Amino acid sequence: MSSVIEAIVWKDNRIVLLDQTQIPISENYISYDELAPYIDAIQRLVVRGAPALGVAGAYGVVLAIDEAARKGHNANELEHKIDLLRDARPTAVNLAWAVEKIRKHLPEGRDAVLAAAHQLAREDKQSSTDMGNIGADWLINKLGSKPLTLLTHCNTGSLATTGTGTALGVIKELHKRGNVKEVYADETRPLLQGSRLTAWELMKSEIPYRIEPDGAAAMAILSGRIDAALIGADRIAKNGDSANKIGSLSVALACHAAGIPFLVVAPESTVDRSIATGGDIHIEIRGDEELTQFKGIQVAPLGAKTFNPAFDVTPAKYISAVITEKQSYEIAEGQTL
Ligand code: MRU
Repeated sequence: MSSVIEAIVWKDNRIVLLDQTQIPISENYISYDELAPYIDAIQRLVVRGAPALGVAGAYGVVLAIDEAARKGHNANELEHKIDLLRDARPTAVNLAWAVEKIRKHLPEGRDAVLAAAHQLAREDKQSSTDMGNIGADWLINKLGSKPLTLLTHCNTGSLATTGTGTALGVIKELHKRGNVKEVYADETRPLLQGSRLTAWELMKSEIPYRIEPDGAAAMAILSGRIDAALIGADRIAKNGDSANKIGSLSVALACHAAGIPFLVVAPESTVDRSIATGGDIHIEIRGDEELTQFKGIQVAPLGAKTFNPAFDVTPAKYISAVITEKQSYEIAEGQTL
């Protein structure tokens, strides 16, 4: 197994994805040169996490151009395909942001589009490093330089970005500085991004960790086991309300009740200043089978109805600070990002 984690790579005019549906059982790479299976991969979470979805969207535009050239599609057909890519998942703004940013380069030709996608990927990588430093400084400033017990939800590491990660990037930086005692990784129902992906990354980084069911987070926090919680975000409204993996809100409420820091770590590209509050964020609702089946085995009565939102929104008043690659924002009532 390689120790470098690369969720998404442009290689030999194809997009290569590390198949995140198979981790930690196997490290399989799948390469794509057609848009339809690539969009399907995005929807099945072969690649996932807001910043990685941005980079996936950027390279996806190049894939669409190359496919259109091969198949003789006209400009309108190409634009339609790019729209489908942009809309593959609705909550993480990074996907639509990156697709629209890269689409603007279409008149400059395919190679310019590819160069812009590479540039976006490089900037994403750098933003991980910068968020790591700003977030680690913030926590050490608040809590002092000592080994901390941290809680995180979902996966926000190298699998979710092209760098070290957002919240997990901060944890990795704190670990480098000797400031991590242990990480509580929420398992993150129903698709287990915490127990499958975050635990795998923590293991590879040799950071002490334990997995807990999502329902144990509030108890862990209120019983004094946790010094601070850190999560990522899929979209942050202008007032600081932040959408992230379902279960994040419960963690925030528990941190608020316990009086410990709750940090949201995300690049500026995740901040959607066109949206005033979290109430305007489109929350992806996923299929029944994610709850009624487990690895193809029925675990609920046939025909059971479900409520399966992929994300929830934490109001800004429960967020101690939003950390981006530029700065930390401590949002007071009535202020905006
Ligand atoms: O459904 P997913 O796995 O794409 O959800 C991912 C998350 O909720 C992450 O916490 C978020 O995208 C931030 S990733 C740095």
